[in-house]
Amino acid sequence: MRSVSTNTDHAAQCASRRGLRREATRQLVGLLSLGAGMALLGCTPNLAPESEELDDVHPQTMFDRLVKKDLVRDCGVCHAIAQGSVMPFLTMGQEYQAITAYKGGAFLTDPVIQSLLLQKGQHAGPPLAPVQADAVKAWLEAEVATRPGMNKSGLMPTVPLQDGEFNMSFETIAPVLDPLANLTFSLKEEGNRIFRVSQLKLTAGPGTGIRLKHPRFYFLSAKGTSLDPADTLVSVDLTVAAGKTATVGGGTVLLTQAPETNRARIGIAFELLERVNPMGMMELKCKAFNLFNPPVKNELQPCAQSCHAPGRNNTANGAFNMEASLSSDEKTLQQFCLNTLGRVDRAAPRNSILIKQITPAAQGGTPNHPYKQGDANALARFTNAVDAWAKGEK
Ligand code: HEC
Repeated sequence: MRSVSTNTDHAAQCASRRGLRREATRQLVGLLSLGAGMALLGCTPNLAPESEELDDVHPQTMFDRLVKKDLVRDCGVCHAIAQGSVMPFLTMGQEYQAITAYKGGAFLTDPVIQSLLLQKGQHAGPPLAPVQADAVKAWLEAEVATRPGMNKSGLMPTVPLQDGEFNMSFETIAPVLDPLANLTFSLKEEGNRIFRVSQLKLTAGPGTGIRLKHPRFYFLSAKGTSLDPADTLVSVDLTVAAGKTATVGGGTVLLTQAPETNRARIGIAFELLERVNPMGMMELKCKAFNLFNPPVKNELQPCAQSCHAPGRNNTANGAFNMEASLSSDEKTLQQFCLNTLGRVDRAAPRNSILIKQITPAAQGGTPNHPYKQGDANALARFTNAVDAWAKGEK
C-alpha cells in the first residue's frame, strides 16, 4: 500500500481508492447505482470491478454491489411503491433502508433460506433467477450475521481475514455493554485456508462487568457466511469484572476452513453476551477531556472526512465511526472521547490500536490497516497527543 504524507493526502487517498474526489463524495454516495457503483467503488486496483472478489463484504456494500441493480430492474417497477397491502421495499433512492427495515426486518430471517425474499417465487412479478437468488442469499447472510439477534454478536464490527492485530469494540452495542469494552486478538495465516487466532482477550470497561458464553468465529465473504466448523470455544463461560482483562478460553483458536478468497472477513458470535454487576448509574466521562479535545480530536477529523464516517466507507465506518470529531457539541464530543478511549491501551498508550493502525508495519504498526501515516512528524505529533491524553485517563 502506498504510504502518504499528509492528512489531506489521507483524505484524498480514501476517496481516490473509490475513484471519487473527496469533495464529490457526499453528493455521489446517495446516487451510486450498481452499474456506476461497481466502477466507482473499485477500491482495489488489482481487481477487475466486475470481479466477484468484493474487497468490502460489509453487508451494505454487498447489497449495493451484488444485489441492488437486479432487484431494482426486475422488482422495482412494482415494489418501489405499495402493492395492495404490501408496503414498498425498494423505495427509490432508499432501497437499502427500505428492504432491511421492511416489516421490522422480516426479510432478515435466520436461517436466511426462509426469507420471503428468496421464497416468493413466481407471483405477479417474476421469481429471482438462480444466480440472483445466490447473491441475495449471500447478502442476507452477511446482514443477518452482523445484526443483533439469537446467538449473535450484535453489531460488533467484523475484521478482515488477514495477518494483524485486531480490536473489536463493543461501542456499537453500547449501552447494552460498555463503550470501553473490547475484544482483542492477533491473526496469522498458517497455511492454505488456515488462520491462527491468538491472544484472544476480553476487556471490560469501567461501567460494567461482562459475561460471555460460547464465542464462535464466523467467516463472511461475497459468497455468504459460514461458522468456524472447529468451534473450539464451545465450553467457554467467562465473566470479566469491570475494568479487568481476561484471556478467552486458551486464547488461541485455529480456524481451518476459511473461505477460498483473500477478501473475506471474520466476526464473532456469542451464545450469550451480557452485563454483570453494572456500576449503577455512574456517568462515564473522560477524565482528561481537555487533553482529548482539541489535540486528539483534531487529529481524527481527517479520518472522519476521508473514510471513517457514515456514507464514506462502510468497513472503516463500521470499525470506528469518527463523525463526532466534526461536531462542536460538548456532549457528542464527550461520548466520542469515551469511544476513542475504547481503542486506547491506558497501561501502555504507545501500544494502542489507535496508534498502531496508522503506524507503518515496519515501525511496529499493524499490517492490516490500509492507510499509514508516512510523515514521521505527523505520526509523532499524533502519538504524543494520544500518549499525553491516555496518561491523563489512567
Ligand atoms: C408486476 C409487479 C411486480 C413485480 C415486477 C414484482 N412483484 Fe413482488 N409483488 C407484487 C404484488 C402485486 C405483490 C402482492 C401480492 C402477492 O403477495 O403476491 C407482491 C408481493 C411480493 C412479496 C411478498 C411481500 C409480503 O410481505 O408478503 C415479495 C417478497 C415479493 N413480491 C418479491 C418480489 C421480487 C423479489 C421481485 C423481483 C424478482 C418482485 N416481487 C417483482 C408485484 C410484483
